Amino acid sequence: MGIVGLGRLGRQHAENIEFRIPNAELSAVCSIVKSEVDEVQSAWGIEYGYTNFDEMLTNKELDAIFISSPSGEHCRQIEAALDAGFHVFSEKPLGLTIEECILAEKAVERHPDKVFMLGFMRRYDSSYSYAKRKIQEGAIGKPFLIRCYGLDPVSAIQGAIKFAATSGGIFLDMAIHDFDLARWYLESEVRSIYAVGGCFGYKEFGKFSDADNAAALVQFKNDAMGMFYAGRTSAHGYHIETEIVGTEGALRIGTIPVKNQVTVFNQNGAVLECSSGFMERFEDAYVNELQEFVNCVVENRKPSVTVYDGTRSTKIAYAATDSFKHNKLVFLD
Ligand SMILES: NC(=O)c1ccc[n+]([C@@H]2O[C@H](COP(=O)([O-])OP(=O)(O)OC[C@H]3O[C@@H](n4cnc5c(N)ncnc54)[C@H](O)[C@@H]3O)[C@@H](O)[C@H]2O)c1
Repeated sequence: MGIVGLGRLGRQHAENIEFRIPNAELSAVCSIVKSEVDEVQSAWGIEYGYTNFDEMLTNKELDAIFISSPSGEHCRQIEAALDAGFHVFSEKPLGLTIEECILAEKAVERHPDKVFMLGFMRRYDSSYSYAKRKIQEGAIGKPFLIRCYGLDPVSAIQGAIKFAATSGGIFLDMAIHDFDLARWYLESEVRSIYAVGGCFGYKEFGKFSDADNAAALVQFKNDAMGMFYAGRTSAHGYHIETEIVGTEGALRIGTIPVKNQVTVFNQNGAVLECSSGFMERFEDAYVNELQEFVNCVVENRKPSVTVYDGTRSTKIAYAATDSFKHNKLVFLD
């Protein structure tokens, strides 16, 4: 495999490919920052290094390309990699506009023999996949409401400010995982969305018409309801919580976002430490999604997360952004 993007998350993906997936090998790394390429190449003895993505695509020793570049690059790189004959895994979101998502869809359709997978890793987390199984078994009857919290720790705020110009906004960057989960659990698409938000602690996001905290109320086509809260200023840590309510019960995932099973007894009382960020909370999920992608390539089958999941979740996030920016109820097609 070759990987593009060696930043915050890409370097971890590179490490996972090289060291945690037995039937994959990292042969090429690419970033526009040469020092990142040099560092990873020399640390792990990676054969090929590139500062130009299209040049990496001329390397016919590779079978698959992993895309972990900034969100605005994904669709162009997906299209180029598929057209060059590679299997492709891309980080979320699929794209920042619907138009570029459609281009990625067309590229996937042009190459039905290639595996394409999108990085909605929460579906590969053991708790989230267990909850899906419980719903399928009928444990809560028919789900009719989902409530999602996606909160980043305030300790990561400077990074969020740095990425604000290219993130696509709080709904496309953060809530998109929750929109994907909602579609997955409720098995329905969004009919309408109303979103609000603001810069309550960090005015810097206002420069990009973005928010540091935002919420959305959603109605699904099967009449189910959704409540979404995304925030970048969580004092206690990284808090990803999901509740699915059904006609015969409810499931909650991550209600107390604990780091692990340890309780620290000290001058602050009996303390459950919180998970510090996505890398820690979803460490296993990142490996599981990658293993699934590699297995699909090896076994010549398709993953359950498709390019269409990418477009649909982007459409919801886009509608949420539109609603937030223009203070209006938005209806989806
Ligand atoms: N699944 C998740 O939970 C999750 C978490 C964080 C980030 N992400 C996504 O992962 C992607 C990467 O995020 P990040 O935080 O690692 O970003 P980052 O800015 O830290 O890293 C981006 C990397 O891409 C490289 N790059 C930029 N433009 C390039 C180009 N044109 N060609 C080649 N390399 C290029 C940069 O040099 C850098 O190495 C984003 O799309 C983000 O939305 C997903």
